[in-house]
Amino acid sequence: MAQGWADTEARDLAPTEQAPYCARRRAALSARYPGELLVVPAGNPKVRSNDSDYSFRPTSEYVHLTGDRCEDAALVLEPRAGGGHLAVAYLRPRSDRRNGEFWLDLHGELWDGRRNSLAENRQLLGLVCRDVRTLPAYLEEAAGRVRVLRGHDAGVEAALHGRTDPARDEELRVFLSELRLVKDEFEIAELRLACAATARGFEDVVRATASDAATAERVIEGTFFMRARIEGNDVGYRSICAAGDHATTLHWVRNTGCAEPGDLLLLDAGVETNHFYTADVTRTLPVSGRFTAIQRKVYDAVFAAQEAGIAAVRPGAKFADFHTAAQRTLAEHLVDWGLLGNRSVEEVFTLGLHRRWTLAGTGHMLGLDVHDCALAPTDAYVDGTLEPGMVLTVEPGLYFQPDDLTVPQEYRGTGVRIEDDILVTADGNENMSAGLPRSADEVEAWMAGLRG
Ligand code: GLY
Ligand code: MN
Ligand code: MN
Repeated sequence: MAQGWADTEARDLAPTEQAPYCARRRAALSARYPGELLVVPAGNPKVRSNDSDYSFRPTSEYVHLTGDRCEDAALVLEPRAGGGHLAVAYLRPRSDRRNGEFWLDLHGELWDGRRNSLAENRQLLGLVCRDVRTLPAYLEEAAGRVRVLRGHDAGVEAALHGRTDPARDEELRVFLSELRLVKDEFEIAELRLACAATARGFEDVVRATASDAATAERVIEGTFFMRARIEGNDVGYRSICAAGDHATTLHWVRNTGCAEPGDLLLLDAGVETNHFYTADVTRTLPVSGRFTAIQRKVYDAVFAAQEAGIAAVRPGAKFADFHTAAQRTLAEHLVDWGLLGNRSVEEVFTLGLHRRWTLAGTGHMLGLDVHDCALAPTDAYVDGTLEPGMVLTVEPGLYFQPDDLTVPQEYRGTGVRIEDDILVTADGNENMSAGLPRSADEVEAWMAGLRG
């Protein structure tokens, strides 16, 4: 068994397209923590049950800095005597047929499939690559100040036991989140791919719900998932396939109901690309292809709020501005409809009374994570200023719970959200998910076109 196998080593591989971008991101990290040893794990597979794992998805921090997707791996930035760092990827090497590793159920390539060799990964990633099995001993012996991204690799943390400091490690986590606030060209191209594939997934769902009979929310979930697997790695988050009353539940991911003609279907779903960038798009669709009068009334209000929100996205604007613009538009409609008595818009807005039905924030940063950069410092994100290259969602909604006695019956059980992925450009913004229609008329025409 040990003999008679061909040499399959690839010796002249070009670096990946992402490699130079990752090198620039690592340079920023290196400059932030001179002289310190930095450890960013990819994470370990997680057990689903017994000996079955969930499908593995590396940490966004590791992906951002390496472009790699291996499990149990880690990026280590070793401080160099002359300044700067040496970047090393600790990876599982190929398994050996001579010593029997190849045939073993635990990481043997007979079971898992061929891996890149360390030398191949060095060419592809542009990083020094070492055997990850040597990492614990390396960390135990490394001198000087260390920071580790915690919570993803217990083995790495055990090897550093007593040498790290929770507050210092938290600073690293926050910095890595902040580092992703402005996307580079590679990332923007990936998000465009994610949005385009997501649009095709929504088209698939419109076709799958064309029948006069009910369509199970799980069929909708499965339809979108198939597109995500065909064109990307996965869905970037669990798809919200919320028909009828379920649309009033912000994160309805149980998907146990049915979409019937006459219902609205709130579909919030995003394809994650093969490099792990995700779209985050919502459309609220009349299952029959035509909005009823009350559905259209609520839809138009949310659309107006989204228009106001998107118009407020530009470089130099505060991150909070689009939220304020959209929420104010929603408050105006709610007052206009008489749902808040005789109160003025100003009073409603100041007291936050509209929030009974607007419920959530109006958007968030988007990228490798659906709620990207969530740990970035408040002054750089929530209270920060928009810059070209930032990508965020604008997703106002109105949600009238089915048991809300403060609104007329006709509103109850109606939920509408419209969500798009907006790139801040040098002079304004670009809607990256504009491949899907937004206004009520456009949505109806688009559905009719797809269903013939
Ligand atoms: N899909 C989750 C969100 O819109 O934030
Ligand atoms: Mn979102
Ligand atoms: Mn969403």
